[in-house]
Amino acid sequence: MADIPVVVDAAACTGCGMCVRVCPDGPLDMAGGRAVVIDRRCLGCGHCQAACPVGAVSVAGLDPWASRFSSFRADPAWLGFGGLDPGILARLLLSRRSCRNYQDRPVPRDILEDLVRLAVTAPSGANSQAWTFTLFPDREAVAALGRAVAGFFERLNRTAEKAWLRALLRLAGRPGLAEYHRRHQPSVARALEAWRERGEDHLFHGAAAVILVGSRPGASCPAEDALLAAGNMLLAAHCLGLGSCLIGYAVAALRRDRATARAAGLPADEEVHAAVALGWPEESYVRTAGRKRPMIRWFGGESGESGPGA
Ligand SMILES: Cc1cc2nc3c(=O)[nH]c(=O)nc-3n(C[C@H](O)[C@H](O)[C@H](O)COP(=O)(O)O)c2cc1C
Repeated sequence: MADIPVVVDAAACTGCGMCVRVCPDGPLDMAGGRAVVIDRRCLGCGHCQAACPVGAVSVAGLDPWASRFSSFRADPAWLGFGGLDPGILARLLLSRRSCRNYQDRPVPRDILEDLVRLAVTAPSGANSQAWTFTLFPDREAVAALGRAVAGFFERLNRTAEKAWLRALLRLAGRPGLAEYHRRHQPSVARALEAWRERGEDHLFHGAAAVILVGSRPGASCPAEDALLAAGNMLLAAHCLGLGSCLIGYAVAALRRDRATARAAGLPADEEVHAAVALGWPEESYVRTAGRKRPMIRWFGGESGESGPGA
């Protein structure tokens, strides 16, 4: 837990108790008909500050930068429960697609920064907010990242070509290399050849920008935090007119190989969880596609399981 002080303006406090009610931790209590700070340890989530009807509570460390968008306007007022048409939300969720065709046009930096601002509205375990965002803002930077990732896969492919090594590792209970060789090596080899010989970008699909979402040490749920932030970014990108795509191959290279992470400018103690390719789309759809039926299990229900084939 961060040591973030909550301050209550005793003169302004009306004693409604709302700050205490919404607090997930324990730094606030009621005494003498007023809210008082009893413990300086708190999550720093800002619920108390947001709930106080008279603005008597403040939490240090909440930076206005994070909600000051520069490429669009956002009403700062809280949107109440049920305040957005779920049909609009469903349409957005159904319409976002992984984009693999981009225009050769840069994405302005203020839009990329706004995507980070929207990303960090995500929840994080114990409100650690220990995420990091490494921005590759133009094709040159994206290509540099692509070269580093390609270097990793060139080396991996050379290793995976050794049948004796695959067999040995399998015997040692480590079938990962053999699995990679069977499932991914042929397509990766083709992509590397296209990159080397024709300059085709099968990794980031020609995206104009990439944002790596990582975490600093100390977060209780670093991967979950980062992926929730990345999910926000994908939806926000669609609203801003941008296509986006998660690039798992880049994450694999950055996580498994320190040299690749170093080439991407990542400190040794950071872990990468998502790579988001971004750019103005050169593709469109005429309808939404939907999803397979998921497995749904009602605990204690009569009807049992329903899912694919059910
Ligand atoms: C963790 C993860 C890694 C992914 N990695 C890649 C990737 O390396 N390259 C790519 O083109 N798409 C990648 N995708 C996109 C998926 O292929 C895509 O989400 C899926 O086909 C569903 O399509 P949709 O996103 O348009 O709904 C990845 C998606 C996820 C969630």
